[in-house]
Amino acid sequence: MNQANTSHQAVLVKEVLEALDPQKGCYYIDATFGRGGHSREILKRGAKVIAFDFDKQSIETAKELFKKEIANDQLILLRENFSKMQDSIKNLKKSLDLEISGVLFDFGTSTEQLMSKERGFSFEAQEETLDMRMDDRLGVRACDLLKLLDEKQLAKMLFEYGGETDARAIARKIVEQRKKDPSSLDLVSTLVEIVEQAKGRHYGQKIHAATKTFQALRIIVNDELGNIETALPQALQILRTSKAANKRLVAIAFHEGEDRLVKTFFKQIEADNLGKLINKKAITASEEELHHNPRARSAKLRAVAL
Ligand SMILES: C[S@@+](CC[C@H](N)C(=O)[O-])C[C@H]1O[C@@H](n2cnc3c(N)ncnc32)[C@H](O)[C@@H]1O
Repeated sequence: MNQANTSHQAVLVKEVLEALDPQKGCYYIDATFGRGGHSREILKRGAKVIAFDFDKQSIETAKELFKKEIANDQLILLRENFSKMQDSIKNLKKSLDLEISGVLFDFGTSTEQLMSKERGFSFEAQEETLDMRMDDRLGVRACDLLKLLDEKQLAKMLFEYGGETDARAIARKIVEQRKKDPSSLDLVSTLVEIVEQAKGRHYGQKIHAATKTFQALRIIVNDELGNIETALPQALQILRTSKAANKRLVAIAFHEGEDRLVKTFFKQIEADNLGKLINKKAITASEEELHHNPRARSAKLRAVAL
């Protein structure tokens, strides 16, 4: 497998830099640090970064990869949910003279998370436990959900968060399997088999039959939409109370649920005369980027200037 498949390639990097416009010596929040692809470019401009990631492995790797920037006080790493951003910044302000110039969100999972061997994010990792927690301090794993929710709730979840049109058939099969052998639902392979049976294998389709089911579970396990809803107003408030000039709020969404929240929130900022959309339409990846990084296919960037 080549490098592009195994390590995270940041999406829309040029477009993020244009929208965020990082300035030397100013502070930016990278709410979703991942492998630090965006942060690295922001740091190269001489700006400072306060980075959030609730995944222990992302933070541990970052400590190794960004030793110099951490030692120079150019990068502050926080293992924290971005939904607690406001409290974290308040805490930092006790010891640092800090005005935030911009906040960046790049939602979803990193390639490292998807490819990691023991976390159960991918339907290709058949022998793994169906876990899917990005933050291992969270209480409920994906396999727990399959055992806890009733058939109706399962179907609703798969339809609403994955857009899975065969949600009811899949939910029925999950419940049947649970009656026969509940512990088998701990394994990725059991869910993949269930989905393939319920949907048919859909050979020749562009995406794997289980893609939507896995997406729905991941969103729920990590409360992805709830976190975005909580964090966007906090990011706005941090920027509104900052004395910095030329402030920017930038977000990259990968699916409809995320993008709807961003789009609605940003439009409201403009309607309330608190800021201005930098582009009327979401920015998407160029043909050239798609050629190198197919993951950028569904990325949509929106930005406001405050
Ligand atoms: C798409 S990746 C970001 C990639 C990053 N921009 C880069 O260039 O490497 C999303 C990252 O955000 C983290 N993340 C997702 N939701 C989070 C949340 N609520 N709080 C903190 N980190 C979160 C994930 O653990 C993952 O590492």
